[in-house]
Amino acid sequence: MTLVPEIDGERLLGRLDAFARIGATPAGGVNRQAFSIEDRSARRLLAELALERGFAVFQDAMANLFIRREGTDATLPPLLIGSHLDSQPTGGRFDGALGTLSAFETLEAVEDAKVETRMPIEVVAWANEEGSRFAPGVMGSMAFTGADISAWQSIVGSDGASLAEELAATISALPEATLRPLGMPISGYIELHIEQGPSLEKERLPIGVVTAVQGTRWLEVSIEGAAGHAGTTGLAYRRDPMVAAVAAMHRLQTTVMPLDSSARLTVGRVTAKPGSINAIPQSVAFAVDIRHPRVERLDAIEAETRQVCAAEAGAQHCTAMIRRSFDMPGAAFSPDMVKTVEEAVNSLRLPHKQMISGAFHDALFLARVAPAAMIFVPCREGLSHNEAEYVEPAYAVTGARVLLKAAIAAASLDDSRHCSGRLIAMRSVSSGGGRHSCLPPCPCTNKPCSCVLTALVGVRKMDE
Ligand code: GLV
Ligand code: MN
Ligand code: MN
Repeated sequence: MTLVPEIDGERLLGRLDAFARIGATPAGGVNRQAFSIEDRSARRLLAELALERGFAVFQDAMANLFIRREGTDATLPPLLIGSHLDSQPTGGRFDGALGTLSAFETLEAVEDAKVETRMPIEVVAWANEEGSRFAPGVMGSMAFTGADISAWQSIVGSDGASLAEELAATISALPEATLRPLGMPISGYIELHIEQGPSLEKERLPIGVVTAVQGTRWLEVSIEGAAGHAGTTGLAYRRDPMVAAVAAMHRLQTTVMPLDSSARLTVGRVTAKPGSINAIPQSVAFAVDIRHPRVERLDAIEAETRQVCAAEAGAQHCTAMIRRSFDMPGAAFSPDMVKTVEEAVNSLRLPHKQMISGAFHDALFLARVAPAAMIFVPCREGLSHNEAEYVEPAYAVTGARVLLKAAIAAASLDDSRHCSGRLIAMRSVSSGGGRHSCLPPCPCTNKPCSCVLTALVGVRKMDE
């Protein structure tokens, strides 16, 4: 007998508590940075819960973790649902964990009710979404969707650790998860996440249906001067990179955001070498995080950052070097998958709005190879990347209920809704083994492959 699948709110909230204990910080947040011991423990706990329930567990070469429940049509690629388990160094307990554990709760709810879906459903915990220990972020989903990862071998973390070593140790810490090749055809992707901003709470809306994600660019700035004695070196003799760095940051903060309300510019990490209280630093490095919905504005802000850093370094007789470490243009989600999510929200009679995500997410990369969409729930005062991050339990459970409805609907769709052109394009990812390439025209609409359409819609929507 098939029952009506329901989210078990207590089970979900209990799991959120259990995972929040892994890497718990005294201030109530979590420090579970990518590929750390804590990250490995969280992956282990999720894998154990899955194996206990009889689900198959897989991982790939980037340590993405998958939990699979079969569908009735073995020829169909799986619908993926999930998020990430890694955190910021002083992160909140919901960023990533809510989406991953709600996805697992969804799988359990479907299993409890013995619901049959056409497509297999797989829960995924993407590796290194945050990127704060090892830049860039969204490594797992980027690699899964065909990024060239050869240059990542040499990446060194903010703590001096080697990515290659930590990744290998993370994979071998979970031998129960069968290794599978990186990347595969998928039918779609849905991710639940906290908003990480204040708008839903302010508007008293329990749900945001996300239609697009804005773009992100990270720049690593290094200003080189000359080390010297703090007590004896007069102004005329100084080549102080700290003075240049402070001036550059100040100029950027007083121009970029005040002149463009859609722009975001953040300097979240500054390091001085040798880092001695009584020495003028030899060099100062800082990272600039730039966000904007429009790629031409990302270009313009990057150009301004380069010009300002060079000018302020020059004024102190220093030199500036800038390296782009991450470039992720924004994109719109598939209108079909957004509609599926919105129908789920409407069937639960939940007030909601459509919105663009200010934060980046793994869904951005998944949207390049399959119909993808996101569901947002409010977080208190919009706080995130902060140990005080908090989500009302009722909102967490409501988000999971929407995910459950949307996932069952998406995993039961026939090919006329999720156009087969997309499936062909996805198959080309696995057979080519490399970058995603579109295969226009789509046989059922005779239009260019829907990936191209999504990209075009993205540009138009972002420009509006
Ligand atoms: C995600 O963690 C972001 O920084 O947007
Ligand atoms: Mn996140
Ligand atoms: Mn985050």
